[in-house]
Amino acid sequence: MQNASPAIQSTSPYFDEARSAEVVNARMSDEASPRLREVMSVLVRHLHAAIKEIEPTHEEWFSAIRFLTETGQMCTDWRQEYILLSDILGVSMLVDAINHRRPSGATPNTILGPFYVADAPAYRNGENICLDGKGEPMVVEGRVTDIEGNPIRNAKLEVWQTNDGGFYDVQQKGIQPDSNLRGVFSSDAEGRYWFKSVKPRHYPIPSDGPVGKLLGAMGRHPNRAAHLHFIVTAPGFDPVITHIFTPDCPYLGEDAVFGVKRELIAEFNQIDDPEAAKRVGLSSPFWSVSWDFTLAACGKPMRAVP
Ligand code: BEZ
Ligand code: FE
Repeated sequence: MQNASPAIQSTSPYFDEARSAEVVNARMSDEASPRLREVMSVLVRHLHAAIKEIEPTHEEWFSAIRFLTETGQMCTDWRQEYILLSDILGVSMLVDAINHRRPSGATPNTILGPFYVADAPAYRNGENICLDGKGEPMVVEGRVTDIEGNPIRNAKLEVWQTNDGGFYDVQQKGIQPDSNLRGVFSSDAEGRYWFKSVKPRHYPIPSDGPVGKLLGAMGRHPNRAAHLHFIVTAPGFDPVITHIFTPDCPYLGEDAVFGVKRELIAEFNQIDDPEAAKRVGLSSPFWSVSWDFTLAACGKPMRAVP
């Protein structure tokens, strides 16, 4: 049998190992949108390159398919196992970083997580979001400003956090009061906000599904470094979805979802002074956290990627 000419070989529509991605991508029609063409051709190229590097057996490939099937089967209205997979692979943080390149000095974003609840109770500054009085008392205060340091009044600060056992209210219905440790505050005319709460604790991400099994198989733990979540919004400014991390958490450098950024680690000062405690309406000792949020105006130039 005669071999095909080189010209015919390089445009052949038939599958061959060396040109596998090219053969698949050539099948895409001009009817596909330019963005879908770009996305699918990049994915096919990288997926084929990975398979060529890994050279899986049929059994290995089938266990990958089974993992993805089980991941889908774990998803409900309350549990999004694919987001969790994206989180533990650092993809959620990467997509967030690409989409929130802010001018230097602006508060950076981090991961939203699954425990945000819209329409949490509104509080006046100074009120306590800890409804069961359990935990180490803490006061958090600071300012919301623009990049130039001008106060932003009426900024909305949504906050949510775990209790000192490492659980959100929504994970412990009937154990914690509803809306425990979550609330909405507004900055005053000087951009100031302040509230009382308790020091949060580290906790494991949901690890009873395929993603938890994968973490275990990779020798990784499921723990998130202790944090408070915030969403800070104000008209004309880029909304910030972020955290404040405690500086003493053993998981700071190994957060399961890569959510820690150096700029988000706060100082937590323990104040052992009954008079100071009385002034803020807490018992002594208490934790004092001072934290400012700096918002970038919508459409401000992006920070260049180094
Ligand atoms: C959280 O911080 O609430 C969280 C983030 C990612 C996965 C699970 C939980
Ligand atoms: Fe969290």
